[in-house]
Amino acid sequence: MDGNPKMQADVTSRLHTLFMAKHLHFHEVASSTQDIARELAENGAPEGTAVLAGRQESGRGRSGRSWLSPSGGLATSVVLRPDISELYLLPAVSSLATRQAIEMLGLQADIKWPNDLLICGRKVCGILIEHSLSFGTLKYSILGIGINVNFNTSAYHEISDIATSLSMHLGEDIPLQKMAVLLYTELENFYLRIKEPKFLLDKWAEHMITLGQRVTSDFYGKRVDGIARRVSSNGSLVIELPGGTEQEIVAGDILSNQDGV
Ligand code: BTN
Repeated sequence: MDGNPKMQADVTSRLHTLFMAKHLHFHEVASSTQDIARELAENGAPEGTAVLAGRQESGRGRSGRSWLSPSGGLATSVVLRPDISELYLLPAVSSLATRQAIEMLGLQADIKWPNDLLICGRKVCGILIEHSLSFGTLKYSILGIGINVNFNTSAYHEISDIATSLSMHLGEDIPLQKMAVLLYTELENFYLRIKEPKFLLDKWAEHMITLGQRVTSDFYGKRVDGIARRVSSNGSLVIELPGGTEQEIVAGDILSNQDGV
């Protein structure tokens, strides 16, 4: 047990999952929960082991960006060991689970491909999925989820134009213990359906605001402009180019869309 025994006990006593976050490591302050979870995984931590932080000092985002992670945010990383053939479903699993946890609070969030969550066009959650592979086998995946829960994003100039938080929409703070329990519960529910790709991909598409939008995708400087038409059976985003041909985007960021996000 690390840091705050009460936070840890509160989450553990309310959690009724089979394996998700059954082993929970709470840190009041962490560098990055990703790095702590990775170390636990390297040392054989069981699937579902979770690291939860009150705040992070070096939170990491996708594409080498940093992730602002002040008090009032929820920052967690979970050790998973899916079959290597199922890795492409983790963005759907994680974004659907987080969307559902947010819905349990009475708020509607949309998924921006691959796994950002937006409320009214502003980012409320980011997800970072990292894998460790050795000789073609998967050792583990670390699923990192950051949710802006109880802080005013307009106080942080880096994100004030593009982000929002749950409390800003609800008009009140949400106990972080409650948010964590909802999140781990939904994460387990959706992860247990990983053998049902059609269910996951259909539901992912149903809640994906990106579809139908004019987008620019960017993968380390390689840009593609067009209209996002659908997600393919391998989780790629299919973009219709101006000439009518289609291109599959396997990874990258959606730089701009009609919400300007
Ligand atoms: C993104 O949108 O760029 C992904 C952000 C992921 C942030 C989470 S917070 C918990 C975990 N620890 C990190 O350092 N990053 C992820």
